[in-house]
Amino acid sequence: MSCLRTSRYVSTAGLLTTTRAYTSPSSSIQELNRYDNLPSNSRVFSLIQPTGRIHLGNYLGAVKSWRTLSNSNPDSEFLFGIADLHAFTSYKPAAELKDNRYQAIASLLAGGLDTTKCTLYFQSSVPEHSELNWYLTCMTSMGQLNRMTQWKSKAQQSQNSSITDEKVMESTKAGVFCYPALQAADILLYRATHVPVGDDQSQHLELCRNIAKSFNNTYNVNYFPLPKTLLTPAKKILSLKNPEKKMSKSDPVQASCVYVTDSPEDIQLKIRKATTDSIQGAWSFDPVTRPGVSNLINIISGLTNESIEETVASIQHLKDHKSLKDYVAKLIIDEFHDKRQLYDELLKNRDYLDSVCKQGRDKARELASVNIGDIKSIVGMD
Ligand code: TYM
Repeated sequence: MSCLRTSRYVSTAGLLTTTRAYTSPSSSIQELNRYDNLPSNSRVFSLIQPTGRIHLGNYLGAVKSWRTLSNSNPDSEFLFGIADLHAFTSYKPAAELKDNRYQAIASLLAGGLDTTKCTLYFQSSVPEHSELNWYLTCMTSMGQLNRMTQWKSKAQQSQNSSITDEKVMESTKAGVFCYPALQAADILLYRATHVPVGDDQSQHLELCRNIAKSFNNTYNVNYFPLPKTLLTPAKKILSLKNPEKKMSKSDPVQASCVYVTDSPEDIQLKIRKATTDSIQGAWSFDPVTRPGVSNLINIISGLTNESIEETVASIQHLKDHKSLKDYVAKLIIDEFHDKRQLYDELLKNRDYLDSVCKQGRDKARELASVNIGDIKSIVGMD
């Protein structure tokens, strides 16, 4: 603890004279096709909610790209973790939440994240997230939060509903509504420069940049960088049964979602039942007229790292929809085979998982405590 304190004071003193200057990036959203081009000394941050087992959407939208990024950018720093405070926005019995947290960390490790290349930790184990959350919540207007679309689906409200509606207000928990300010605190606490996410998080990232700008302007500092959104290559994996919606664990139709832990037979069955179309002839990627087939093409592209164009060219030999589905199922089964076994083993070893998280927490706190010291000094709370 004393070492954390020392570095905080050193940093705070440094801040007064040498705050790192950040210029606004030319483009705040970058599509990731290759991962080896991050500027040196980038700080990359992202979290995933512990919703139990990880599905193909989370895997391609988060875990795989985190792994590729951290393996191929040795000059940068990577912090990844489990957004358990975010998961607390919807009630789960304590034992279930705890199991989910272990499952999530085991999934990240089984997914190939290497703790010598990235820090892995639980959000709730670093109290500075909650502390910064309060400062940022106080700087975020209800209007900004009301314009976010995700709280509406989480609170089971329609997309054109508003928090000013009496009924919506009564049935929406404040945590669900204020969740994007906590997300901004997660990112800004580490002064992250890049945040790899799927498409559904783009709006929250835009808000995060606005909060960072507003903080910098209000206190006349250049403290927070404006973090770039790194849109992962498989931006949005859609439900297998209804390709109008994203693949999500909360989908009541279980066949809509493939999990890393599914058996090969289950994967085969779910993919065979995936909604496609009856168009014959050449395969084409067209999310509007061929959403089901395009989703499968996107899945192949995410798994093989080929572009959509290369993927479309490479599947032309598949003669019918059944062959396409068998091809996709085999790719998923092969991708998840070792990961499933490792996941089962890891989950049995909670002591090991605890030690990984403790190590990650200590590393994350070292940075977080320095930065929260700086932030408190900027706002006059030191
Ligand atoms: P979460 O847990 O819903 O999803 C974790 C990551 O997976 C991506 N993702 C998908 N990508 C493609 N297709 C899908 N069907 C799909 N489903 C999920 C998400 O875009 C995300 O990148 N609020 C966040 C967690 C969070 C966070 C943060 C993320 C909390 N604080 C700070 C980044 C930075 C969430 O609920 O993600």
